[in-house]
Amino acid sequence: MSDPWGLAGQRALVTGASSGIGRATSVALVAAGCRIAVFGRNVEALRTLADDLGTDGCLPVAVDLSDPSAVESSVAAALEALGGIDIVVNNAGVGYRATLGETTLEQWDDTFAVNVRAPFLVCRAVLPAMLEQGHGVIVNVASVGGLIGIPSRAAYGASKAALISLTRSLTVDYAERGIRANCVAPGTTETPWVDRIVAGAPDPAELRRQMAERQIVGRLGTEAEIVDAILFLASPRATFLHGATVVVDGGYSVR
Ligand SMILES: NC(=O)c1ccc[n+]([C@@H]2O[C@H](COP(=O)([O-])OP(=O)(O)OC[C@H]3O[C@@H](n4cnc5c(N)ncnc54)[C@H](OP(=O)(O)O)[C@@H]3O)[C@@H](O)[C@H]2O)c1
Repeated sequence: MSDPWGLAGQRALVTGASSGIGRATSVALVAAGCRIAVFGRNVEALRTLADDLGTDGCLPVAVDLSDPSAVESSVAAALEALGGIDIVVNNAGVGYRATLGETTLEQWDDTFAVNVRAPFLVCRAVLPAMLEQGHGVIVNVASVGGLIGIPSRAAYGASKAALISLTRSLTVDYAERGIRANCVAPGTTETPWVDRIVAGAPDPAELRRQMAERQIVGRLGTEAEIVDAILFLASPRATFLHGATVVVDGGYSVR
């Protein structure tokens, strides 16, 4: 085990760990010496992850984050199994391709249930234990879409802006009691999410080219580039970051 972040021995909860950025974050946290609880709906993917990481260090929890009571009971199970939680990574997210006028009520509600309500519920459920122990770190995975307007991402952008705001509220209400909350706002990043979007496009190669071009570096981000920011924010190296949004977007948002 190498521990460049000073995270060894920490107990972490990661949502959306069955795929993409959440999976890569989980692998990195265990490599850094953390024990983790991993949340997602895809039971098989979570089991594979736990098998890969060694079941001692990784507790798979099958949960639909759009179900409030399931979120609360799952956090309680994770607290019990890990004996407390030091780090929460609210990473799970959904997004629909739709302008405001095209967005259905179901799409709006699902987006806010997973991207905003679930982080709210996870944080609310974990806060008493964090306050009791006098410390806790929360890293919320937002998006560049919460900072700038992205075409046909109305509900998604609004939900990620709300998550950024929730992070600031956590900070002003709880920083003095030992809670440190921050956001990472990724730009377009190579994950199964993007693979699905590209595969569903009429001209996948053209869409991938456009996705790369809109970021100043001319390419998509890698999972590792986002994970590094998440682990940094989770780590004691980031003790002066409170309520911040760390934008990791290859320059997407600066134009
Ligand atoms: N990739 C990008 O370009 C990009 C850019 C900016 C921000 N982000 C953000 O990064 C985060 C991770 O995205 P990703 O690209 O890694 O996507 P991904 O590979 O599609 O992973 C999404 C994760 O969210 C989980 N999830 C979704 N709905 C859920 C629900 N109702 N209950 C439980 N888990 C649920 C999925 O788990 P199950 O499938 O097991 O349900 C999966 O593990 C998201 O918040 C996304 O908004 C991504």
